[in-house]
Amino acid sequence: MLEVTNLVKDFSSLRAVNNVSFNLSRQTITAFIGPNGAGKTTLYHLISGELQPTSGSVKLNGKELVCLPPQKIVKAGIGRSFQITSVFPSLTVDQNIRAAVIAHRGKQFNFWQNLQTDVSLNQNVTEIMSLVGIEHLAKIPVQNLSHGDRSLVEIGIVLAVKPLLILLDEPTAGMSRPETNRIVELIHYLHQELGCTFLITEHDMEVVFDLAESIIVLHQGSILAVGNSEEIKNHPDVRRAYLGV
Ligand SMILES: Nc1ncnc2c1ncn2[C@@H]1O[C@H](COP(=O)(O)OP(=O)(O)OP(=O)(O)O)[C@@H](O)[C@H]1O
Ligand SMILES: [Mg+2]
Repeated sequence: MLEVTNLVKDFSSLRAVNNVSFNLSRQTITAFIGPNGAGKTTLYHLISGELQPTSGSVKLNGKELVCLPPQKIVKAGIGRSFQITSVFPSLTVDQNIRAAVIAHRGKQFNFWQNLQTDVSLNQNVTEIMSLVGIEHLAKIPVQNLSHGDRSLVEIGIVLAVKPLLILLDEPTAGMSRPETNRIVELIHYLHQELGCTFLITEHDMEVVFDLAESIIVLHQGSILAVGNSEEIKNHPDVRRAYLGV
């Protein structure tokens, strides 16, 4: 589904992403791990079009994404949650999901129709809130939610664009263990029941080993190792560079 080939990103003299190549198959969960500054978020920015690579290629189902603006990349099927939250804090949960669905519908959306009585819009919004488990929070302004609930809203916003591939950058950062468990359960559910494909970055190794079928280790911008949980846990270079063993 996703083919990343020889991707390079230089920030003046710093090579943040160094000749990275990997492929993702449909309906898989892959995790990127690596120390702070390894290049994980930069790599996400390159895939989602917020940054242009110095060189290299990113293809989704054979279509080149490099040079497309971020909104076209979303339309092509890549949904991404931002580490800096992309919600409207003063709007309710329902209104935030509604705004994302309307934005995604774009030109198909009838400006003159009353939004409150648009049955298919209402259904779509309710469906997303129920999938993510936030229906009971519908009327609460997002700024009044806990950090964990706000992340669920963000995942709902990502789902509103019906993505083929979902990029989550540290989805459990700063969360309590129960909040983390909810996010992990949700990712499992979306993967198993809806066949969603995920690329996640995560520092919590418990989460990585629980979720990811395939793990890619980045170190100083380069891929250090690729493997399943057991292979990564036992990889001597990874143990030295990242797990601190
Ligand atoms: N816009 C930028 N301009 C210059 N340097 C940058 C920029 N963005 C990132 N970098 C540098 O690129 C390197 C990779 O950063 P990046 O944020 O991708 O790491 P990361 O793996 O996501 O780290 P973390 O685990 O802390 O989130 C770092 O050395 C960082 O300082
Ligand atoms: Mg990062």
